[in-house]
Amino acid sequence: MIGNFTYHNPTKLYFGPNAVESLGDELMKYGKTVQLIYGGGSIKQSGLYEEIMEILLACGKNVVEDGGVMPNPTYDRVKLGAKRAKDNGVDLLLAVGGGSVCDYAKAVSVSAYCEENFWEKYYIRFEEPTCKLLPVGCVLTMAGTGSEMNGGSVITNRAQKLKIGHVFGSDVMPKFSILDPQLTYTLPERQMIAGIYDIFNHICEQYFSGEDDNVTDYIAEGLMKAVISASRKAKKDPHDYEARSNIMWAATWALNTLLDKGKTTDWEVHMLGQAVGAYTDATHGMTLAAVSLPYYRYILPYGVKKFKRFATEVWGVKEEGTDEEIAQKGLSAMENWMKELGLTLNISDLGATEEMIEGIADATRVQKGGYHVLTRPEIVKILKESL
Ligand code: NZQ
Ligand code: ZN
Repeated sequence: MIGNFTYHNPTKLYFGPNAVESLGDELMKYGKTVQLIYGGGSIKQSGLYEEIMEILLACGKNVVEDGGVMPNPTYDRVKLGAKRAKDNGVDLLLAVGGGSVCDYAKAVSVSAYCEENFWEKYYIRFEEPTCKLLPVGCVLTMAGTGSEMNGGSVITNRAQKLKIGHVFGSDVMPKFSILDPQLTYTLPERQMIAGIYDIFNHICEQYFSGEDDNVTDYIAEGLMKAVISASRKAKKDPHDYEARSNIMWAATWALNTLLDKGKTTDWEVHMLGQAVGAYTDATHGMTLAAVSLPYYRYILPYGVKKFKRFATEVWGVKEEGTDEEIAQKGLSAMENWMKELGLTLNISDLGATEEMIEGIADATRVQKGGYHVLTRPEIVKILKESL
């Protein structure tokens, strides 16, 4: 294991069917005014909005509505939400939805009382908040990002064509999250599989780094196998509770600060995917799927040992041939699984064009923790192969 680390995750989780019944107990810990944050309407269609509203009113809360948060939430939208929170003296930000809604709530939390331009401070200069923070609680309706138990908040600045994530510290993580796998049943299949690939890639991003014998990698392999198995069952039957609950729980553990312990971590697929997202506003998991294979095939020679281990341990590839051949077979097995799920495997299908490539390359941040640090020409090459 590399270096010293501190492990502390303050988010309290309520997991399982009807976990939302615990919301009242949590609400009692906060003041009277709750900003109810949700997306474009799925919670109204499913009936969850009414259920949450009843609980809020039964707890005597003043509700400040903040609906219509878009997928890939924007800087302009956060500005509105932050003003709303400050003007109304909000005591709790309650996010009901997927990663976008949770990320947005965290951005509002750190921005409502921020005296400076919060985009510049948090997303360009990567400074930590120094102002008063508002507590965030979350009722999750989509599994994928892990936002329910981490400090991540990814915001898109449309004017600057940048999509950037800041991973805030434990003060910004949700105080509590309610995880009822049944709430994910209404997700369209495309969102479900995008979320599944997001989970899988979060694990890969942390796994594909380092060459030591590290307990975290064994945990990662177990989680990857669980995601592959559950994904096949959920694709066949979206109402398979066992599969949906495994997907939801794996999503949380894939990105709740456990899997980076003792790891340098890569995250270059996310940097490429986010840059594609800044230009196309495409679904996050799909942007990752579309750049993953060209990226991994490109860096494989720099990390053959780990890609071979990925092939044999995760995909059951037999140890026949050279290390590189075995490693390649692992990526082929992953490609077959991605096709089986129906993931988008190129960025043109997400709206990216050849003319955008230079701009997307400019928007791609280079990470240093993986097996190879990309140069700009290499980024352009990988993006072109992803078209
Ligand atoms: O807006 P509504 O109407 O609710 O519809 C949403 C949205 O259109 C819909 N949806 C969610 N739950 C549903 C549902 N539809 C029917 N039934 C349900 N139960 O699904 C669509 C996508 O929702 P969204 O929240 O955007 O998806 P996701 O959870 O994938 O979040 C994506 C955002 O999270 C960021 C991404 O970059 C993107 O901006 N990420 C956050 C991370 C973090 N906090 O650590 C890490 C990730 O790598 C990721 O970057
Ligand atoms: Zn992701």
